[in-house]
Amino acid sequence: MKIIMLGAPGAGKGTQAIMISEKYGIPHISTGDIFRANIKNGTELGKKAREYMDQGLLVPDELTCDLVVDRISRDDCSKGYILDGFPRTIPQAQALDRALERMETSIDYAIDVDVPDENIVNRMSGRRACPGCGATYHVMFRAPKTEGICDECGEKLIVRADDQPETVQKRLTVYHDQTQPLIDYYDKKGILKTVDGTKHVDEVFGDITAILGE
Ligand code: AP5
Ligand code: MG
Repeated sequence: MKIIMLGAPGAGKGTQAIMISEKYGIPHISTGDIFRANIKNGTELGKKAREYMDQGLLVPDELTCDLVVDRISRDDCSKGYILDGFPRTIPQAQALDRALERMETSIDYAIDVDVPDENIVNRMSGRRACPGCGATYHVMFRAPKTEGICDECGEKLIVRADDQPETVQKRLTVYHDQTQPLIDYYDKKGILKTVDGTKHVDEVFGDITAILGE
């Protein structure tokens, strides 16, 4: 099963992708997580990506597409995967389509987690992220068992650098300009599924599993 998660920054793509990955046993591939891991490790890619991410801008396609195509070509992706945060532009979607064609396969579902902008800024100010394993929490909606500590790996939780309100606004603008057109792109291919992302995390997951099957 090959799935793309669509949705605004903070819509809950990562939260749902991790749950889908566990239930269906397919890898969760988040370009945002890959870039953040590179920043943490001080790689050349991390240095370049950071210039854009800290401003709420997209990392250029040429730094992004090959990385994803390489990742989905690995053995653990043979039964499927969830792409979270990729594609984010029409050129990225076209590059993915060309790669999938070469691999003689295609995406099964593009799931749009729909949340209006008004809800997003509030959500982002309460998000806490684990720099160790990538788990995501919210101080009100999804609190960790011990405040400030990751349930999964025990690392200290952080506020992401791009979760400041001004940067979130910029990310939303970039989303509407460059990423939202993908909703139409996948609708035309007949694989778009929209879920209401304003519901409780577990209800959203229930709606997604109803689409994907048990
Ligand atoms: P990325 O890491 O992908 O960030 P994003 O798309 O902005 O999305 P987020 O991770 O912020 O939100 P999410 O939808 O995953 O929500 P989450 O589950 O955390 O990208 C970061 C940056 O990297 C980009 O800005 C760009 O610079 C660069 N980048 C990445 N991919 C790129 C690409 N392909 N091309 C170019 N550049 C790229 O949830 C948010 C919060 O809400 C959490 O606190 C969570 O606990 C809470 N929450 C989740 N669901 C619910 C719910 N149902 N009810 C209440 N709270 C909820
Ligand atoms: Mg995410």
